[in-house]
Amino acid sequence: MAASWLKDAVFYEIYPQSFRDTNGDGIGDFNGIIEKLPYIKSLGCNAVWMNPCYDSPFRDAGYDIRDHKKVAQRYGTEEDLVRLFEEAHKLGIRILLDLVPGHTSETHPWFLESAREEENQFSDRYIWTANAFCGGDGMPFIGGEHPRDAAYIINFFKCQPALNYGYRDIHDPSWQQPIDAPGPLANREAMKDIMRYWLDRGCDGFRVDMADSLVKNDHGTKSATMEVWKDIAGAIHAEYPEAALVSEWNNPEQALGCGFDMDFMLDWGGNGYNRLMRFYQLDKKGNILSDNSYFKLESDADITGFLRDYPYDAWKDLGQRCMITGNHDTKRASFNLNDRERRLAYAMILTMPGAPYIYYGDEIGMRYRWLPTKEGGYHRTGSRTPMQWDNSKNLGFSGAEEEKLYLPVDPAADAPTVAAQEADPDSMLNFVRGLIALRRSREDLSNCSPFAVYSAEAGSRLFAYKRGRLLVAVNPGREALTLELDGAYAPVYTLGHSRIRGNTLVLDSQSFTILSPAE
Ligand code: GLC
Ligand code: CA
Repeated sequence: MAASWLKDAVFYEIYPQSFRDTNGDGIGDFNGIIEKLPYIKSLGCNAVWMNPCYDSPFRDAGYDIRDHKKVAQRYGTEEDLVRLFEEAHKLGIRILLDLVPGHTSETHPWFLESAREEENQFSDRYIWTANAFCGGDGMPFIGGEHPRDAAYIINFFKCQPALNYGYRDIHDPSWQQPIDAPGPLANREAMKDIMRYWLDRGCDGFRVDMADSLVKNDHGTKSATMEVWKDIAGAIHAEYPEAALVSEWNNPEQALGCGFDMDFMLDWGGNGYNRLMRFYQLDKKGNILSDNSYFKLESDADITGFLRDYPYDAWKDLGQRCMITGNHDTKRASFNLNDRERRLAYAMILTMPGAPYIYYGDEIGMRYRWLPTKEGGYHRTGSRTPMQWDNSKNLGFSGAEEEKLYLPVDPAADAPTVAAQEADPDSMLNFVRGLIALRRSREDLSNCSPFAVYSAEAGSRLFAYKRGRLLVAVNPGREALTLELDGAYAPVYTLGHSRIRGNTLVLDSQSFTILSPAE
């Protein structure tokens, strides 16, 4: 049984570096998030996922953890973080921390111990090859850095050695271990211990980084990685029934099948989610060469590319599949979609099953900016800039001098801000609020209420779906379209122009509507 609060959870993702700086050192902090909790509540969000906030050398923005049980000084103290949990709970907001189970920083004490020549209790906690020259059996590896006569497998950047959860298909038993060897089992226990540590301090669960990649040579079915998660998630759910787990996996049958409550639909080139909003090609300089995203006005995409990747019946009873407006790894939707196109995309995201996740700043249309890389961000850096609150210094993000800011704020004269949009009933901010309020007021739109495709023809720009008894229809294209209705309906929400003529719904260019059966 999943945590009861997930039924109507709407999430807000916070990149802590860039949300709000309260002590003027140029970087966001826990107190800044506490200060802005009422704002998050005003959006209608009742849950937050915060990117890693632990002690780290920040070679990958904190996804390279040096000490899992210590918060990074730059965000404040552990007491501040606990206060964040408490203040959030007072407002009915849950907080998920980021759990990075697959790797640590190369400076983590566990890793430094494991890199020593003499065998010790950490020797098998990472994946070390037979010797310094034998290669990684197809996995990326680093050699020549440590006294131990072996190379180590990495998960992502050079600074992120993979923790050893074992191998499913073992090619070389001299160094590849089964998943129930002592090192892999110790890592599972270590993760449970870290999760308990933060749950005991008041966090409400975890977003789990690269959850699908723990066991190596576990291609296809991921059966061994699932076995590991059944153990870890099973233990945590038994001890903390109200804790929630969301996976970075992008395979709901697998992820929800081994204990996750939610699984993200991720932005992978050409997949279903990608085809909605980010199906473009760039030249070397980052200019858009072509864009056939479904929500682009001029595209000719139909919705079938998305639906191929959305076999609802395969996972509907297992848990939630979650859609995002973007995240700290994607370009912001404002990179290629204009205001109207984004509204249509968000209207769909906010009316689909599964808890939706809003990436901070997307609700005001913050821009993607080409910036020099920061903390291993590279092209992701431009989606991680400071939140834009108002027209005061640094757009209300920080009182620091400009050159001390973690990342520069948007210098544009018309940079969107919360304050400006609060005052404008037609702003993106109030549009997002309106849709979240509608979602949370209608049982049929809640996270687990049924979904069924109503109309999705190849070659057509129209997409219509049922949520419970409601009928939702969107036309992102230029031509007006019609849809035959299966009964008498009345609109409960409209964006753009649409009308009902007898049994036919007419959707003008770039319109969206939600219809309810007429009483
Ligand atoms: C995930 C994170 C990403 C990070 C990577 C390595 O994909 O979302 O930001 O760089 O894992 O931990
Ligand atoms: Ca600060």
